[in-house]
Amino acid sequence: MKTNVLSPLLALAAYPVHVLNGFKEYATTIRRYYPNPRFRRADLLCLWAYLTRDPHAICEHFLRDYPDDQVQKMYGESFFTTLEKIAEAVDLDDKDVVYDLGCGRGRSVFWFNTMFGCRAVGIEINPMFVINARLIQKALDIDNVEFILSNLMDADYSDATVIYLYGTALSDTAIVNLVERFVTLKPGTRVVTVSYSLSRYTELPMFALEKTIRGKFVWGETDIYIQRKL
Ligand SMILES: C[S@@+](CC[C@H](N)C(=O)[O-])C[C@H]1O[C@@H](n2cnc3c(N)ncnc32)[C@H](O)[C@@H]1O
Repeated sequence: MKTNVLSPLLALAAYPVHVLNGFKEYATTIRRYYPNPRFRRADLLCLWAYLTRDPHAICEHFLRDYPDDQVQKMYGESFFTTLEKIAEAVDLDDKDVVYDLGCGRGRSVFWFNTMFGCRAVGIEINPMFVINARLIQKALDIDNVEFILSNLMDADYSDATVIYLYGTALSDTAIVNLVERFVTLKPGTRVVTVSYSLSRYTELPMFALEKTIRGKFVWGETDIYIQRKL
């Protein structure tokens, strides 16, 4: 009962911190990544497409009736400075194939592709996000990027060399279901997860933990796990 009363108050108190973190990160994005014209154009179009529509609301509204063991209903986007740390940790290069599971507006997908020249694939269940991302890709003629409209529980990502999962709000059952799908990944594929490691969700010896790094998100800092599929 106490938690129920306090939770909205705590969320309200944290809001200015989130806004400040978001502004600081965007200033860094402009300084650090916008000098890359391909990324700058793609990212500005991603932001412009949702100027009058809040992606958090779009995501939560679309997923409200989906079962919790299938989807993550809370929206959020990774900071590019955090993606840069991840890219360094997995030694990303243009031969990699990166999958972002639940890619939202696709900003991370464009970032991976335009910064490293690698193939980047976003899997996303929400048609609005996928349609807009595809339009941006087409308008800017960006190759080696693909947006797949699918539930990540059904999609095929067997050609991935790196999988990124920002799934901090996935239920335990959803993570267990997803890990079962990772059985088909090629040995050597790196799976990057935020806040939890995958070995907690399977009894099979599927992954070796390669590294743990720290990364910032709008809500604070956490551990990021880099696992190699055995
Ligand atoms: C937290 S956002 C992550 C955005 C992006 N990956 C990033 O790091 O910036 C989660 C996204 O996953 C999508 N999603 C949630 N459950 C999904 C599922 N089962 N299959 C595909 N997409 C899903 C949501 O629609 C939302 O856009």
